[in-house]
Amino acid sequence: MRLAFHDDGSGTPILWIHGYPLSSAVFARQTEIPGVRHIRPDLAGFGTTPPSSGSMTMRRYAHDLVDLLDDLGIERAVVAGLSMGGYVAMQLLRDSPDRAAGLILLSTRETADSDEARQARYKSADDVAAHGIGSVVESMLPKMVVHEEYRDEVRRIMESSSPAGMIGALRAMAARPDSADVLRKLNVPALIVASDRDTITTVADAQRMQGLLDRAEVVIVKGAAHLANVECAKEVNDAVASFLREASIA
Ligand code: MLT
Repeated sequence: MRLAFHDDGSGTPILWIHGYPLSSAVFARQTEIPGVRHIRPDLAGFGTTPPSSGSMTMRRYAHDLVDLLDDLGIERAVVAGLSMGGYVAMQLLRDSPDRAAGLILLSTRETADSDEARQARYKSADDVAAHGIGSVVESMLPKMVVHEEYRDEVRRIMESSSPAGMIGALRAMAARPDSADVLRKLNVPALIVASDRDTITTVADAQRMQGLLDRAEVVIVKGAAHLANVECAKEVNDAVASFLREASIA
């Protein structure tokens, strides 16, 4: 699968992996972080990448990303995953640990879905198949951002998702494994970012992940919902820049 992607800036490569149902556009503000080569792909079925044939899994998303790194001749990148992108990042670390120079986890968690959450994913996939993406987009939007001024932008990003892409991602998320073992074994520096008004992933998720990691810094952003990198971009960008400096990755 060839992914559409943006490639901006020069310096330490960061592979930015977006969440559900979003696209590379959600990281537009992160390209302001200096001294970084920002690689921002659209996962299969999101943004401008068409859906893949066959079912998606976290492993397939991660494989597509490693292929992209290969195509770009990038041996090691800092892997940064937002929410579902975090699930993909942890899969990438499971399958190809040598490709990561560092790990950034934004509004995500390492646990698998509960049975109840899994059933809700399948129901949501049926809903998208029957009625399109509209109701999922509208129901998720208030959880993405608390500030009105970002709503239209985030809605547009969500609306660039294809129904097949969303259904594939819902099923892939439902089937994802627990990744606590990946975090326990991680041997590169990590940064975890969470926000205090996020109801999709919580501060407790961030703290639990920190407990699994040897070397991890946690930054809790105040006043943002799920997309702290949009609503509080400066704080998130500063946290990433200082992480790169302190971990001597930059
Ligand atoms: C995301 O933002 O990627 C999703 O909300 C994550 C999830 O539903 O688990």
